[in-house]
Amino acid sequence: MKTLVTGGAGFIGSNFVRHLARTHPDWPIVVLDKLTYAGRRENLQDLEGHPGFEFVQGDITDPQAVARTMDGCAYVVNFAAETHVDRSLYDAGSFIHTDVHGTFVLLEEARRSRTLRTFVQISTDEVYGSVPTGSSRETDPLMPRNPYSASKAGADRLAYSYWATYGLPVLVTRASNNYGSHQFPEKIIPLFVTHAIDDIPVPLYGDGLNVRDWLHVDDHCRAVEMLLTQGAPGETYNVGGGNEVPNIELTKRILALVGKPESLIQPVTDRMGHDRRYSLDCSKLRAMGWSPQVPFERGLAETVEWYRAHPEWWRPLKEANPAFREHYQRHYRG
Ligand code: NAD
Ligand code: DAU
Repeated sequence: MKTLVTGGAGFIGSNFVRHLARTHPDWPIVVLDKLTYAGRRENLQDLEGHPGFEFVQGDITDPQAVARTMDGCAYVVNFAAETHVDRSLYDAGSFIHTDVHGTFVLLEEARRSRTLRTFVQISTDEVYGSVPTGSSRETDPLMPRNPYSASKAGADRLAYSYWATYGLPVLVTRASNNYGSHQFPEKIIPLFVTHAIDDIPVPLYGDGLNVRDWLHVDDHCRAVEMLLTQGAPGETYNVGGGNEVPNIELTKRILALVGKPESLIQPVTDRMGHDRRYSLDCSKLRAMGWSPQVPFERGLAETVEWYRAHPEWWRPLKEANPAFREHYQRHYRG
């Protein structure tokens, strides 16, 4: 049951590898990760010495690296992607290259495989676009509205096409906003928690009323693991946390947990094309027996504690790190 996890040194990927090693200790795991600014070898430190674990630094757009790491695999989970919406606003090309072309390279190699049982393409709730009312179902039309979500929608439907055209055992997951340990501190929760710890104002976009649905990364990992063996090829599955919270409320909760005043909230210019709300109908996955297990209040408090307890993890990523500083200065204009 050898499993290839691409992007396994990133936030969700590294949590997934840990989860898989715990739940299936006899499955060999290969991680293929380019180690971009968002990927860290240290995220997988505790896997060193795990029997059958192999880390390969490489690019999913490189057919040779993909062929070498997919060899003999029963399962492939493609987490590798450029993932930050704000970066896609000024650098769409790298999103199209990795998220769309990289997925194509993986699918082409999967077609050659004689051992593949399931290929999971990790997509996102952003492919539905902004959802003013109600909740998106898997059959709803896709209406991505920023270069990140458009590239993910391209990969999402490309993966589906390899099932419809070639009968490849592909399935697609569309998850809502994940939170938890090891998330690069440019996304709202780790950015605001670590800023608040250091008494730096937290930059809240627009009126702060945009709504995101928060899913604990462990609940996401359990869903993907279940789908590896129980998902149906050609199908798409929404994975949502059922915790829809306006950003202003999230920000206030974070500040309260860190013990800092609300005066740290700094309203800033809104994100271009900022989707107002995402919401997922997850009845399909729930009918298979999955439901989120981590209550948001507890999950958020534990996440804040994790960042508080691990400054050695996030400080080097924020301070003296050109990838963070250049993005921060460019995006927030200093
Ligand atoms: P992340 O940015 O933390 O990690 C991405 C990983 O992919 C990094 O380790 C990076 O080094 C690697 N990578 C990037 N380009 C690569 C390439 N060309 N070849 C090999 N590796 C490469 O992202 P994340 O938040 O963990 O997201 C993982 C996946 O889940 C992505 O596909 C993302 O679109 C999807 N997703 C994320 C969320 C979320 O809230 N974070 C929600 C839904 C879906
Ligand atoms: O919905 C799933 C998506 O969630 C994933 O597909 C993406 O990979 C992941 O990055 C995430 O995208 P978002 O754009 O929703 O995440 P982000 O943390 O960047 O922003 C969350 C909300 O917070 C969003 O409404 C914008 C707002 N925000 C974000 C930042 C970084 C702010 O108000 N200020 C900020 O500085």
